Amino acid sequence: MYSSIRSAVSAIGGILISVCLAQEPCDRSCLEDVLSEYFTALTSNDPSRLPTTPDVKYVENDQIIPLGSGLWPIAGSQGKYRHLFADPQSGNVAAITTITENGVQAIYVVRLKVEEDRSISEIETQITRDASGAALYEEMGEPEAVWYEPVPPENRISRERLIEQTNKYYSGMEQNDPHGNYSFFDKDCNRLEDAIQTTNVNSSDPYGHSNDTSFASLGCEAQFQTGFLGFVTRIRARRFPIVDEQRQVVLAVTTLDHNGTVRRLPSVNGTSSPTPPYFDVPRSLLAAEAFRLRGDKLFRIEMALTEVPYGMRSAFPAHGGLGVDLEGALDAVLDALRAHEPARLLLAQRARYSENGQFVALGDGLWETLVELDEGARFVDPLRNTVGFWGYTKEQSTPGVLALGVRVDGEGRIAEIEALGVRAESNGERYGTVTLMRPPLPVEWEGEELGALDGVFLEGKGVEEEELLGLVEAYFDGLEAHSSAGVLFTPDCVRRDNGAQREESCAAQMDGEGEAPNGLFNRTTAVRDRRVLVADSEKSVVLAVALVDAPAIARGEEELPPTERVPSTYMIPQLIKIEGGKIARVESMIKWMPFGYTSTWGEEQEDNGRE
Ligand SMILES: *[C@@H]1O[C@H](CO)[C@@H](O)[C@H](O)[C@H]1NC(C)=O
Ligand SMILES: *[C@@H]1O[C@H](CO)[C@@H](O)[C@H](O)[C@H]1NC(C)=O
Ligand SMILES: *[C@@H]1O[C@H](CO)[C@@H](O)[C@H](O)[C@H]1NC(C)=O
Ligand SMILES: *[C@@H]1O[C@H](CO)[C@@H](O)[C@H](O)[C@H]1NC(C)=O
Ligand SMILES: *[C@@H]1O[C@H](CO)[C@@H](O)[C@H](O)[C@H]1NC(C)=O
Ligand SMILES: *[C@@H]1O[C@H](CO)[C@@H](O)[C@H](O)[C@H]1NC(C)=O
Repeated sequence: MYSSIRSAVSAIGGILISVCLAQEPCDRSCLEDVLSEYFTALTSNDPSRLPTTPDVKYVENDQIIPLGSGLWPIAGSQGKYRHLFADPQSGNVAAITTITENGVQAIYVVRLKVEEDRSISEIETQITRDASGAALYEEMGEPEAVWYEPVPPENRISRERLIEQTNKYYSGMEQNDPHGNYSFFDKDCNRLEDAIQTTNVNSSDPYGHSNDTSFASLGCEAQFQTGFLGFVTRIRARRFPIVDEQRQVVLAVTTLDHNGTVRRLPSVNGTSSPTPPYFDVPRSLLAAEAFRLRGDKLFRIEMALTEVPYGMRSAFPAHGGLGVDLEGALDAVLDALRAHEPARLLLAQRARYSENGQFVALGDGLWETLVELDEGARFVDPLRNTVGFWGYTKEQSTPGVLALGVRVDGEGRIAEIEALGVRAESNGERYGTVTLMRPPLPVEWEGEELGALDGVFLEGKGVEEEELLGLVEAYFDGLEAHSSAGVLFTPDCVRRDNGAQREESCAAQMDGEGEAPNGLFNRTTAVRDRRVLVADSEKSVVLAVALVDAPAIARGEEELPPTERVPSTYMIPQLIKIEGGKIARVESMIKWMPFGYTSTWGEEQEDNGRE
């Protein structure tokens, strides 16, 4: 019965798909037609004329509101300045134009996401209520011709490169460093901000909110070299919804945060001046910006800005990719940890922090005790939007190894930090951990130097994530079954447990051969709560954690060694390195846990009913 319903559904799906395929893809002129219909509907204040998907998302200045509200009842006429952008590959079309609201002119940016059947699924708009800027656009009449010139294929750079180069603009402006490398600007680059040219102009008009009259006389690169834009403290929610390869144009949308702490601005000639009062208080600006590249350099920039509440989250969170700076997010976490200042972090709604599987307050636990944190190694997973760290710590006087998994949301906010800290345990007489609380592990780590992480973990050959995950799952299965039968190891694979390396190969250890059969895994049972924090397909390394039960039950007549006489669970954060489709290296740290331990993450996964 069930399967027959499914096949009926998929048959219907098949029909739908073939109908869609029959239609021509919506090319540039088709997209521009949809946009033109949009303006007809908007200026006749009639959203019912728009072909939309049932769940169309309508957004004005980052607020998600019902289609038909906001500007819709009060829109007058569209101005004649119409700068159009189209990306047939992603089905996006946009315009920078002007509109009247109850007769008042404003700069208007709109982006439509057009589905295969020509219906509109996203309407993203930005209204910059700057009547004089809109009037300037109307005087200008049309965009500079270079925006519409097709670039011969041999002079184009790829979609990915276009985004990468554009993103450098934002990374350079954020906390604008006067000593940064800004060679990504074309020497003839110019920028418009709300219709005013703000580069290479000699006018007595001061720049932006400041009273600086010489900034605008500089070119794009020279402006960044002053460091003047350092009052922009963070640029987040970076998206690049339109990439027009034919014209080498990108339309980006970002949010610029100004946290209000930067009190002086360097000036053009090496002096400095107080930051304008506008930036006394925390503010965010929503920025829609178009870039025309020449070669791989930024040649024209056209920006429209409007203010939103400080910290405003994007209505269109990105899903990873270049827009989200994963390594930057990790740096932020590490810097905050070192400074004991979790308040520095840009947090997602309901962000959470766990330490060894238990949720604690951000700022508690390790955040208080950490006194040293080395550079460590980092691993990036753009598919999961996670980034990992593996390094050495000192908490007060106690050394440790710290594995961190950081999950970042679509606009670079920290959503989850999972810290796994394996601290050195000592068997010193009154120290207590090992002598009073539990027996020593078969391989105890007492804080001796573990050396640098083997370089093989840091260089890789790029392996598909799926392949990485399959190999790791098989590894855990093998550990549980005490059999390497289904596990792919390189012949010279090395595993270190708590820094100790055995002579036997990885496979032989798993199979329980040799002098000290299978080390601490010889009598273990389940390998539970297996979680991959980061699968770095570039370095071909997986950062995973698993819980392994050691119930301390002897087999037959054997006498259990002193290290295995009480029921235990081992929590094992580990790095697993893949080479040529096989596991080549395992670096694992083992933390003793009460038997049966489940981490809060694991409980969530298994939904075992514990609140
Ligand atoms: C600046 O960056 C460009 C492009 O990455 C590079 O070719 C150049 O060497 C850099 N200049 C300096 C001074 O580092
Ligand atoms: C601006 O003025 C300076 C000095 O007076 C001059 O060197 C420069 O060429 C002028 N730039 C423009 C764009 O007119
Ligand atoms: C700009 O304004 C600041 C006050 O905000 C003042 O201290 C400074 O002298 C002014 N600079 C110029 C060049 O007028
Ligand atoms: C330095 O720059 C400031 C504004 O940025 C300007 O008022 C002043 O005249 C400049 N001084 C010189 C010597 O160019
Ligand atoms: C505010 O911005 C400054 C300058 O960029 C930065 O150093 C500081 O960490 C920021 N503060 C917070 C809480 O992010
Ligand atoms: C555990 O070690 C014993 C020898 O002490 C060996 O005979 C046995 O095969 C090992 N079992 C496993 C599951 O590795």
